[in-house]
Amino acid sequence: MRKLNVAMIGGGFMGKAHSLAYAGMPMFFWPAPAVPYRKTVVDVTEELAREAAARYGFEGYSSNWRQAVEDPAIDIIDIVTPNDMHADIAIAAARAGKHVISEKPLARTAEEAKLMLDAVNHAGVKHMVAFNYRRTPAVALAKKYIEDGLIGRILNFRGTYLQDWSADPNSPLSWRFRKKIAGSGALGDIGTHVIDFARYLVGDISEVMATTSTWIKERPVQSGGLDKLGTVKSSGDTVKEAVDVDDEVSTLLRFESGAVGSIEATRNAWGRNNFLTFEIHGDQGSLFFNYERRDELQVSFASDPEDRRGYRTVYTGPAHPYGGALWPIPALGIGIRRDQNYRMPRLYFFDRKRYRGFTEFLRRLPHCRDYRCDSGLRGKRQLDPLQLAPDGRRKNHANDERRCISRR
Ligand SMILES: NC(=O)c1ccc[n+]([C@@H]2O[C@H](COP(=O)([O-])OP(=O)(O)OC[C@H]3O[C@@H](n4cnc5c(N)ncnc54)[C@H](O)[C@@H]3O)[C@@H](O)[C@H]2O)c1
Repeated sequence: MRKLNVAMIGGGFMGKAHSLAYAGMPMFFWPAPAVPYRKTVVDVTEELAREAAARYGFEGYSSNWRQAVEDPAIDIIDIVTPNDMHADIAIAAARAGKHVISEKPLARTAEEAKLMLDAVNHAGVKHMVAFNYRRTPAVALAKKYIEDGLIGRILNFRGTYLQDWSADPNSPLSWRFRKKIAGSGALGDIGTHVIDFARYLVGDISEVMATTSTWIKERPVQSGGLDKLGTVKSSGDTVKEAVDVDDEVSTLLRFESGAVGSIEATRNAWGRNNFLTFEIHGDQGSLFFNYERRDELQVSFASDPEDRRGYRTVYTGPAHPYGGALWPIPALGIGIRRDQNYRMPRLYFFDRKRYRGFTEFLRRLPHCRDYRCDSGLRGKRQLDPLQLAPDGRRKNHANDERRCISRR
């Protein structure tokens, strides 16, 4: 099977997600058109790069992205750095004949993005931007319903991306709050995903009216380049500097098709975590999606009987887009995706429950070799009597087992 050597530039949050996708892709998309091989990871220091290689399963590492771009063994350059590096790396990679994957936002400005697009087109290499969310099965299903005419002519698209990770003013001034690095704030960081939904599902936008706000005007300066996304707070006496990007954007839109709509994005919405949603109204029905419930598409059709009017839930599974590659039962989680886009399959596997289970197993391994088996046995002992004696009167051993576990 063809192997494609990947050099991933940046070993932070998205570096982890992309690494998971590379590792998991052939397990899901099989037979795979090609298998991505984690050849080199690059970060700003040797130490960070070495750690990323060990953690994310890369064969080698480097602190020099130009070296990776020039390496003849590399097929794909995957850019997961802060936004200010996207253009330089993508253009150099295209010139070296490498295929390019870039995280979003593609660039800090439209001019920069145009240079990148010109470079990859000129070099004739494959390229993609990581608008991963559109490959979520429920989102792709919404697209299919729209194309099949199930909700008729689209009248309105209402999209939001609401988060609260930086709503605390003590959440530090990471690169995401510096215009020179990020280009823009909530608009480029999260609003871009909703704009991608709008374009994917409804079409190109012809008119826009928008307002942006910066509610938290200064933040404590953080040490280190990695954005910890609000998980680490600075104390009140840390030196502060000005925020020069938006932290909220609201827009009104008109699409080329004539449909209207709105998009809102903010990182100040207490109580909202990854509230990436759209509601689409057509003249024959409506669709609603919320990424926090990513296996679900809410649907309501004008043809529904009057006494059953209202949204109902379709749980995505094998019958739906990408479903055949994922799990055989609906609502088992998508992993994903999230790194998605099968231009190059990019599902991120965020099935936290399963990962937690494995981690716990490994942690306990030296002390308790039968960690999983004892709970399996416990369950079996509870069930067997029910199977053997429909009257349920047989002795249940669950308490004996519980004592045994608590002694460990
Ligand atoms: N598609 C999505 O859902 C999604 C989600 C989060 C972030 N992103 C995007 O991914 C990109 C990275 O974001 P992140 O959250 O992973 O950031 P991060 O701060 O967690 O990680 C960035 C990494 O890049 C490294 N880096 C910085 N400059 C570098 C250089 N010159 N050479 C090599 N490495 C360098 C940093 O040391 C760090 O390890 C951004 O463009 C961001 O907008 C996309």
